[in-house]
Order: sequence, then structure tokens, then C-alpha cells
Amino acid sequence: MNDRIPSFSASSAFSVACPSVLPLSSILPEEPLLMMGAGPVPIPDAVAKANGVVINHLGSTMAAVIGQVKTMARYVFQTESKWVMGVAGPGSGAMEMAITNLAWKNSRVLSICNGFFSERMAEMARRTGAVVETLKVNDGTAADTVKVAEAIERFRPEIVTIVHGETSNTVWNRSLEAIAGVARAAGALVVVDAVCTLSTMPLPMDAWGIDAVITGGQKGLSSIPGVSLLAFSEKAWQRITARPVPPTHWCFDASLAANFWHNASYHYTAPVSGVLALHEALRLVCAETLERRFARHLRCSTALQAGVEAMSLELFVPKASRLNSVVGIKVPEGVTGADICAHISRKHHVEIAGSFGAPIVRIGQMGEQCREHHLFRTIHALGRTMVDLGVPVDLPAGVAALERSLSAA
Ligand SMILES: Cc1ncc(COP(=O)(O)O)c(C=O)c1O
Repeated sequence: MNDRIPSFSASSAFSVACPSVLPLSSILPEEPLLMMGAGPVPIPDAVAKANGVVINHLGSTMAAVIGQVKTMARYVFQTESKWVMGVAGPGSGAMEMAITNLAWKNSRVLSICNGFFSERMAEMARRTGAVVETLKVNDGTAADTVKVAEAIERFRPEIVTIVHGETSNTVWNRSLEAIAGVARAAGALVVVDAVCTLSTMPLPMDAWGIDAVITGGQKGLSSIPGVSLLAFSEKAWQRITARPVPPTHWCFDASLAANFWHNASYHYTAPVSGVLALHEALRLVCAETLERRFARHLRCSTALQAGVEAMSLELFVPKASRLNSVVGIKVPEGVTGADICAHISRKHHVEIAGSFGAPIVRIGQMGEQCREHHLFRTIHALGRTMVDLGVPVDLPAGVAALERSLSAA
């Protein structure tokens, strides 16, 4: 028997050579970027610290953390429902969990489509084998309750999906409460994508009769991306437990996820650091209270919009259906969205977002983005960028309007 310890040399044992890679410190910019895009957003120190901790995913400490996460999340969702749970995955993971548990082959789903993200829910529903009808809403406008009521009457869906704030084109579905009421009266379950709006503006799940609310961590909650939250109503949960077949997505099977989120037992190894980060983010929302948080978002976003307009740039969506959580600014003639985003990042270390087709750039107003010092830096960076790119704007007027609006509020 040959008991020699085998020797591994790169030349003989490994067909892929060990790469020499740069440390992160030499890749990341020296001055941190101010994240003012459509998410991820800056995170508070308490969230960052929690995200650096690893604990046992099944011990008593985790059970206490999960208990508090659910209690705080119920406050943020404004629901008494037991069926609140986290999701190891992006906002789209929470969306997939909601859709794939509530819909199956031949389920009837009406998807109200305002743009990129609301279309995603329709696509997810199609992939379950559901019969999906889409109601397209014109770009830049909110869904109309009468048209939705007609579509419900015609199609008789079991599930209606709708986005609260369509981040891609910065539209706010301001009639969500009425639309949810119509859907509910027709016996349909209502699934709401609140990825960019939860904790930035009112969305009382129980009071509005909503059956599933989806959110991500990286937006209004100012937590990290990749760990999301989802709440099902009791009625939605009954549909899930009465499914004729189990869902095809094992990781996103809500009944299995309930093992971890409601019975302190194993489903898969939870992203413990991300759950701890989410705990801290929710704790900070509770400490601030929803009333004050909504007021801060409104005040900051309104002031930012005033500053942008005073500079003589144009907002994309008319006021009546304009989302406050993400502000869309028309790209002026002679430049592209990519030019603006690249310049503001490189020269001013401020990140803003391009778009998914609409001729806009987008500035986020979610969570930690809604701080006065961030607004002044952002409006200055945006104005300087336009001047540098040859777009005639009145930067001092923008800064003055921002200040006026903030101090008047
Ligand atoms: C409204 C909305 N829905 C869904 C998503 C998808 O979230 P994620 O990118 O975390 O999967 C986003 C992300 O920007 C969003 O803004």
C-alpha cells in the first residue's frame, strides 16, 4: 500500500491554475459612493454591524431574533396575520414565493402591468401554468380602478397582482386601496409588490384587504439586498395549505419555510447575518415609528423634486401618479442616461440609476437616502454633472428650492 502523502503541485494536479486576484480594497473606490439610485440604499451602522455577525441558524438566539423580526414586520406591514416570513433571496425571490405558492396550473391570474416589475409578476404566474390575463397601463399613469373593475368582471380572476410603486418608470398606483377593494369583493386574492414602497408610504395591509405583500431589504427598510420579507393574509394561507399539488420551487415552498419561520426548525440554512441585519433595520423603523418615517420620506422627496424642477430639469411622471420613493428625471436632449450616471459617479461619487427603457435617470428616496445632507450633496452633484455635460441648468436655483422646501415643511 502506498501511504505517501500525495503532493499537489499546480503544474501536475490542477488543470486550472490558482488565480492571482486583487484584494477588494484595491477594487472599491477610495471614497465610498453615496448610493442614491433605485436601491440598494445606504445602510445604518447598526445594520452593517449586524451583517458582520454569524450565529447558529437554529439555536435559541435565532429563535428570539426571528420572533422579534416577525413582530416588528407585522407593524411595518400593518397586519395581524401570523403568516409573516423572511426569504433568502432578492425582492424577486419574495415575489416568486408569493406567486408560486398562490398560483398553479390553470389558476386564473389578472396582472396589472405598469412596467418592468409588475410584468415580472405576470411572467412568474405564467410559469406556474396559470392562465394569465394582463391589464396594461399606459406609461406614466396609474392603474384606473374602473378599468381594473371591468377586467375583473370580464376575466373573473382568483388572484390579482399589482405593484404599489413601479420603480422602473416611477409611477405610483395611488388607487391601490380601491383596486384591492374591488378585487376582494369579486373574491380574488390581492398580491402587492411593495419592494420600493414598504415603510416609505402608507400601505396598511389588513385595512386595505391585501393578501400578500412583498418587499426587499435593500430599499425602504435600508437593510442589505438578498434577504427579503413577505406577509400572507390568513385567507392566502388557507389557499396555500389547500393546494392540489406542492409548489415546484422547494426553497420557496411557503409551507416548508414555515418550519423555520414559525416552528424554529430546519428548512434550509438561513442567511443568519442578513436576518440579523433585517432585525436591526426593522428595529430602527419601529424606533422612528411609521408616522415619522412616512413624513420624513414625503418631506425629503418633495424637496428633491422641487430642487430638480427649479434647476429646470423635468420630472417624468405627472404629480397625480408620481412615486415619491424613486424620482424619475427626464434625460435632457444632447446627453444620455448612461453619460449622466457615469459622470455623477466618477466626478462626484454619487450613484444614481439609469432606467429599464424609459428615457429617465432615477434618484431614490428610500430609507437612509432621505437625509438632508444626502439631498444637498445629490442635487449639487446632479446640477454640476449637467453643467459639465453642457446641459443648461440653474444649479443655485435648484439648491435654493431644495432648502426652501425642506425648511417650509
Ligand atoms: C418594484 C420592484 N419590484 C421588484 C423588484 C425586484 O427586486 P430585486 O431586484 O431585489 O429582486 C424591484 C427592484 O428594483 C422593484 O423596485
